[in-house]
Amino acid sequence: KLPIIIDCDTGTDDAIAIIAALYAPQFDLRAITTVAGNVALKYTSQNTLNLVRYLGFDTKVAVGAPQPIKSDIIHSGDDTHGDTGMGTVVLPKAEGSFYEKTAIETIIEEARAMKGELVLIPIGPMTNIALAIMAYPELKTLIKEIIFMGGAMRGGNMTSVAEFNAWADPEALSIVLNSGIPCKMIGLDVTEKAIMKQEDADYYRGLGTRAGQVVADLLEFMFVRFNAGKEDALMHDGLAVAVAADPDIVETKRYYVDCECAGTYTRGHTYVAYKDFFFKKGERPELCDVALDLDLPRFKDFLRNSIIHSVET
Ligand code: BDR
Ligand code: CA
Repeated sequence: KLPIIIDCDTGTDDAIAIIAALYAPQFDLRAITTVAGNVALKYTSQNTLNLVRYLGFDTKVAVGAPQPIKSDIIHSGDDTHGDTGMGTVVLPKAEGSFYEKTAIETIIEEARAMKGELVLIPIGPMTNIALAIMAYPELKTLIKEIIFMGGAMRGGNMTSVAEFNAWADPEALSIVLNSGIPCKMIGLDVTEKAIMKQEDADYYRGLGTRAGQVVADLLEFMFVRFNAGKEDALMHDGLAVAVAADPDIVETKRYYVDCECAGTYTRGHTYVAYKDFFFKKGERPELCDVALDLDLPRFKDFLRNSIIHSVET
């Protein structure tokens, strides 16, 4: 089984990604670490703990950074994820507590224990991962791969050129992309094609399990959160988890990628160097696989084949 840590800002689609990871037979989910993003850290952390315990798992949940490295703390600022991040879903407050170590300590602890096999799946702003790399440079050789939801080769959802996770902490993303650790960017180029519909919500509700019901409730919140019923639900974060289990769900090309930290209009833009023939050889190492196309049925199969296991537990 692939040892993974999910780093998240739960978050409606983060919650669905976590549920898939909890049940997917391909993973050994070592820990979940939390970060400020969609909503404040106290909510992203409590939402994550509540969810994991409600589903009966004792997975470690470690609390991370309350704010980005340099940006003022900024949440999505609208009702994208509801007031506290879980849409209309209200879960019982979890029994028990957070893991005693911080997100950064948990990442280095698991990276050492897994001896080079650990894969990180950040699905929120990259703050924790960057801080961990700065505190423990040995992570550069201990982390096998970072498969992250964030950025876009073209376009954005916070500005014309910046995706939310990249925009929320550009300095952190730049540190990670330049760390030398192999990365896979699951950006808006593919996540905006990861569309869920009412028939998907009906399927999950039909499972008759706690997990199925939470997924269906979150999806139905996402369907109506803007102009009643006009928007389908995009599974940004679930796609990053899915690709960790089944890389063939996306087509990728390897490039040098950085995140713009300056720029009057372009802060938070993920710059994919696909026409920069003037870089000297080796000057900009091509270490980031950028996802460019998606096999949607294969992705949906992954989600269903994972969450189906909630029926047996
Ligand atoms: C990303 O931003 C958040 O709102 C989602 O959870 C996802 O991680 C998409 O831009
Ligand atoms: Ca997220």
